Amino acid sequence: MAKKSPPSGSAPARTDSGPADPASETTDHAAGIKKAQVQELAAAMPHNPLKAGEHGFDNGLEPLTGPHVAAASGVAGASTVSEINGTDKTGSVGVEGLNAAIESLDRVRVDASGRGLTTNFGAFIADNQNSLKFGTRGPVLLEDFILREKVTHFDHERIPERIVHARGSGAHGFFECTEPLTRYTRAAPFQQAGKVTPVFVRFSTVAGERGSKDTARDVRGFAVKFYTDQGNWDLVGNNMPVFFIQDAMKFPDLVHAVKPEPHHGMPQAASAHDTFWDFVSLMPESTHMLMWVMSDRAIPRSFRTMQGFAVHTFRLVNDAGDSVFCKFHWQPHAGTHSLVWDEAVKISGADPDFHRRDLWEAIESGAYPQWDLQVQVFTEEEADRFSFDILDATKIVPEELVPLQTVGRLVLNRNPDNFFAETEQVAFCTANVVPGIDFSNDPLLAGRIHSYHDTQLSRLGGPNFHEIPINAPIVQVHNNQRDGIHRQAIHRGAVAYEPNSLAGGCPFQAGAGHGFMTVPARLRARDEAAKVRAKPELFADHYTQARLFYESQSAPEQAHIAAAFAFELSKVTVPAVRERMVASLRNASDDLARQVADQIGIGQLPAPLPRAMEQPRKPEVTRSPALSLLFRPGNGSVAARKVALFVGPGVAWNAGCAAVRERLVEQGAVVRCVASRIGPVRTADGETLDADASFANEPGYLFDALVLPDGCESAASDARALDSVRDVYRHCKSIFAWGTGAKVLARAGIANTGEDAGLIVATTADAARLIDRFIGVLGAPRDFGRETDPPRV
Ligand code: HEM
Repeated sequence: MAKKSPPSGSAPARTDSGPADPASETTDHAAGIKKAQVQELAAAMPHNPLKAGEHGFDNGLEPLTGPHVAAASGVAGASTVSEINGTDKTGSVGVEGLNAAIESLDRVRVDASGRGLTTNFGAFIADNQNSLKFGTRGPVLLEDFILREKVTHFDHERIPERIVHARGSGAHGFFECTEPLTRYTRAAPFQQAGKVTPVFVRFSTVAGERGSKDTARDVRGFAVKFYTDQGNWDLVGNNMPVFFIQDAMKFPDLVHAVKPEPHHGMPQAASAHDTFWDFVSLMPESTHMLMWVMSDRAIPRSFRTMQGFAVHTFRLVNDAGDSVFCKFHWQPHAGTHSLVWDEAVKISGADPDFHRRDLWEAIESGAYPQWDLQVQVFTEEEADRFSFDILDATKIVPEELVPLQTVGRLVLNRNPDNFFAETEQVAFCTANVVPGIDFSNDPLLAGRIHSYHDTQLSRLGGPNFHEIPINAPIVQVHNNQRDGIHRQAIHRGAVAYEPNSLAGGCPFQAGAGHGFMTVPARLRARDEAAKVRAKPELFADHYTQARLFYESQSAPEQAHIAAAFAFELSKVTVPAVRERMVASLRNASDDLARQVADQIGIGQLPAPLPRAMEQPRKPEVTRSPALSLLFRPGNGSVAARKVALFVGPGVAWNAGCAAVRERLVEQGAVVRCVASRIGPVRTADGETLDADASFANEPGYLFDALVLPDGCESAASDARALDSVRDVYRHCKSIFAWGTGAKVLARAGIANTGEDAGLIVATTADAARLIDRFIGVLGAPRDFGRETDPPRV
C-alpha cells in the first residue's frame, strides 16, 4: 500500500517552509495557531499605505501614522510558543504591548539585609577571608573562581570620567507645573497645573577632574533630566546664561585651553593659567562669559543658591504646530548667594566636597532645595528686531526686554541610593527632547546635539547606555534597534524592521499626531541660501553685553570682578597675554581695564583690541538690575544655613545661649558647638555640654555665621578660634556676640563701629531680643560694607 502523504499542516513547528494554501495550516497545535495568526497579520497589509505620502515638502510636514494591525493574540508576536513554560528565571509570557525593562528604579535597587554573600552568579560564598590555597602556607590555586571574580571585578570598577563636567553631584526630585503652557507647547510637563514629572538633576564644575574640589572658580553645570510621559527631556544648562564660544567647532579648543596644561598636568580645576587666557584673549566673543566667570557667580555658596539657564534659544511647539522661541531659567527659592574668593580657596582645602555635602545634608534634613522654572517667550519676528542675534550663545535676552513667566517649580527631595549607579552613570544629552520642544539653529547647540551621545558611547561602554536604569525613560521604548554590548531588553518575536506585516506593522510610525516633529525654518534670511562656513553678522558684536553685565553690578560685585581678573592674570606667566586681555577689556569697560591693569603692574593701558564690529546696534537696555546677584535675595529662609556657636569652659549656656540655639534650630539652621576639641565642655552653670566641632575640623570659613555667647572668651586662648573669627568677619558674614563674647571680637582685632548690620553686639540681657535680627541678616545677602582691599582684618 502506498504510503499516505501527511497533510501539509502536520508539522507546524517547522522553520524552513510553509504551505501554499494558508487554509491548510493545522491549528490544533500552538505553533500552527501562531503561524495562522501571523498569516492573518501579513494578509491584512497587502501594501504599504505610507509610500505615497513619503514624497514632497507638504507631505513632510504631516507624516501619517504607520499602518498597524492588532494580532489575534500575543502568540503571533512571540519568539517561541514554549514561552508558556515559565520558571523563576524566565518569568511568564510577554504581556501584550509591554516593555518590562522600563520600570521604576525599585526594579534594580538592591537590599542585602538578612542576605548571605554570593558570587555574581548567585552561589553562596562560604569564606570571604581567605583565598583557596594548597595547604595553609601553600600557593594560591588558579581554581579559586571566587577570588578571581572578586579581584577582576574590582580591577574594572572605574569607568572613564566625563571629558568635561567630570565632578558632579546629583539628586532626584520632581517638577510641578504651576501655569500650563499649552498655548505655546504640547510638551508633557506643561499640560496642566499640578502635573508632576519626576526628574534627576546633576550639578557639576566644568574643568576639574572627578576628584577635584567643589569651590573652584568655574561655571557650574545644571542638568535636569525630566522623565516625562512622552519620553526623556534633558535641559542641560549651566548656572550662567551665556557661553564662551559661538560655534561647536571651537569647543575642543576651549576645553584644551582650560584643562591642565598637557606638558606638566597643571593646574587642576583652575582657569588661572597661560593657555586659558591666551585662548580667550584671542577670542573676544568670550568677553561676556568672562565677566560672569570672574564674578562671584563662579564661586556659588551652594548649588541651592544658583540660578540655572539652558543658555541656547529653544523652540516651543503647540498642538497646531505653531512655534515660538524660548529661553529657560531656573530661579532658586533660597536666592542667589555666593562665596568670596578668599573663602572659596580656604574651603577647598578644608572641605573639597563643600557643595556635594551641602546638597546631601539639605535633602537629608528635609530642607528640600527648590527653584522656579521661568520662560522668556518671543516670536521670530520679535527676535528679528533685537539688537543681537538670538542664535548667539554669548548673548542674553535681557529680562527688561522679554519678561520672565513662571511655569512651574523644581523640588529636589531624594538623595541617590548609590553615587556611581546614578550620579556617575547618568547621561544627559541636549538631543533628548520630547514633542513640543525643538531646537533653534544655534550652531553651538548643533554640536552639542551630536557630542553628548557620542562621548557617552565610550564613557558608558557601548550603545545600550540608555538601558542603564537612571537613563531609561519611564515610558516604554519600542524600536528596531537591536543588540550591542550589554543589551538588557529581550525582544520577543522575529521582526526587527519597519515596515513589516509579520508583526502587524508594530512598532509603527507614530505620525504627526503623536510623534516628534521638527519645526521647519520659518523666516528665510538671504544668507541662508547656500552652504557656508561663516557666522551671522551680529555675532561680531563682542562687547555690548559684556559692558551691560559689568555695568549692572553693584560696586562690591564690580570690585570682585576686577580682583578676579587680576588674580587670574597674575597667574599667567607671559606678560603679552596679560596685556592682550587688558586691551580686550578696554572695549567692554575702561574702568575695569584700568583697575585690572593697576593690580597687575601694567602702568600704561594698552590700546584697545581691534573690534570685529565697529558700530554695534544700539542695545535695548544698558543696565539690567536683574544681572546682579543682589537682585534675587531669596525668601530669607535660613534653612540648612550653618552657624558656628563658640563654646569653651565657662560658657554661659543658660544665659541666652541655649535660647539662641533653640531659635536657630527651630528656623532650620544647622548649629554646631565649636571648641578647641570635640567632647565635653563645662558650662558656667556647672553643666556639661558636648562640643560637636573643633576649630581644626570645622574652621570658621565653613560656616555662614558665627555666634559668640557670654562666657565663650576662654575659647579665644586658642589662636585658631581667632583665625575663625577673622575669616568670618573678612568674608562679610554675620556675627552675633553678647556679654563677654564681644571680647573675642576685640582680641581678633575687630572694632564694632555700630554701622555694620552684619555685626550684632549685645548685652547678655538683650541677646534673646536680638536673635530675630541675627536670623534676618543670616538669611539675607552678605553686606560687603566692611570689605576693604587689602583686608584690614
Ligand atoms: C551652552 C553651552 C554648554 C552648556 C550649558 C553645557 C552644559 C553641560 C553640562 C551641564 C554637562 C554635564 C552633564 C552631566 O551632569 O552629566 C556637560 C557635559 C558635556 N558637555 Fe557640555 N555644555 C555646553 C557646551 C558644550 C559643547 C559645545 C559641547 C561639544 C560640542 C559639549 C560637550 C559636552 C560633553 C562631551 C559633556 C560630557 C557628557 C558626558 O560624558 O556625559 N558641551 N555639558
